[in-house]
Amino acid sequence: MSRLLQVPEGTIPVAYMEMLHMLPDGSPRRFRRPLLWPYAKFPHALIVGGTGSGKTSFFKVMLSSFIRYEPEAELYLCSYKTRMEDFAFLETGSHFGDFRSCRDIFEAFFQRFTDRLEGRDKKRTPLILGFDEWGGFLLSLPKKEQEDVLAKMGQLLMLGRSIGVFVLCALQRPDAVFFRNGARDNFGLVVAMGNLSSDGFQMVFPSDFLSALKPCRQIGEGHALIGGFQFSAIRGVSPKACTDRNLAATFRRQERDEGGTAL
Ligand SMILES: Nc1ncnc2c1ncn2[C@@H]1O[C@H](COP(=O)(O)OP(=O)(O)OP(=O)(O)O)[C@@H](O)[C@H]1O
Ligand SMILES: [Mg+2]
Repeated sequence: MSRLLQVPEGTIPVAYMEMLHMLPDGSPRRFRRPLLWPYAKFPHALIVGGTGSGKTSFFKVMLSSFIRYEPEAELYLCSYKTRMEDFAFLETGSHFGDFRSCRDIFEAFFQRFTDRLEGRDKKRTPLILGFDEWGGFLLSLPKKEQEDVLAKMGQLLMLGRSIGVFVLCALQRPDAVFFRNGARDNFGLVVAMGNLSSDGFQMVFPSDFLSALKPCRQIGEGHALIGGFQFSAIRGVSPKACTDRNLAATFRRQERDEGGTAL
């Protein structure tokens, strides 16, 4: 996915679909096609998977795809880890927060959402919140704050789409406690990296798709469901230095626009 693909408006490529084609002689041939996510139609993405399954890499590629295909998009990023683990190329600031500051970034994003909701901000260019390790973040909060943050996430998921607000959320297990009152059902794209336990499968995919499940043999393989009906075996785009450079340049620019400290 190095060249820009022709994609419909409100759509970005996020991975490859693994397809199997039978040749006339009956032998199978594997091939890949880009998996396109019509995010404006099926908003918000949930990425789940065991440790080391490729969630953060998938997450980075998605953010980078927004940068390439939606140059007007503004990105906020929270990672409930130390900066050095996955985002050493970014500095914490107005749009990026590590484990110490992701609560502040979440609140700043929620304020931007409220500004749009209440009509103070009329813009509808994509405003994206990427949250890596959402589960770990929630568990780190005292009960009362947890409730507050869960209620806010519920509002983002339910009301965001029509005002151009989108959430990408990555966590290991998508237990219902990490979302409130069925808010989990508002994810238009659900990605499961690696092999899922049957328990994990049932948490994110309808049982109709169980028979379409393929074993994942390599890191970066998984499954995706778009809009509740398009189910595919996928392969994440291999993480590259250019993805990191892309993200670093965007966050530097956003920081400058905000009037913060240029890196
Ligand atoms: N599509 C891919 N192709 C090849 N290698 C990959 C792919 N995706 C991820 N990897 C590699 O697998 C390793 C783990 O990836 P990543 O950190 O994204 O996993 P994770 O699920 O976020 O892990 P953690 O649970 O520790 O946060 C990294 O070294 C990464 O480079
Ligand atoms: Mg990770």
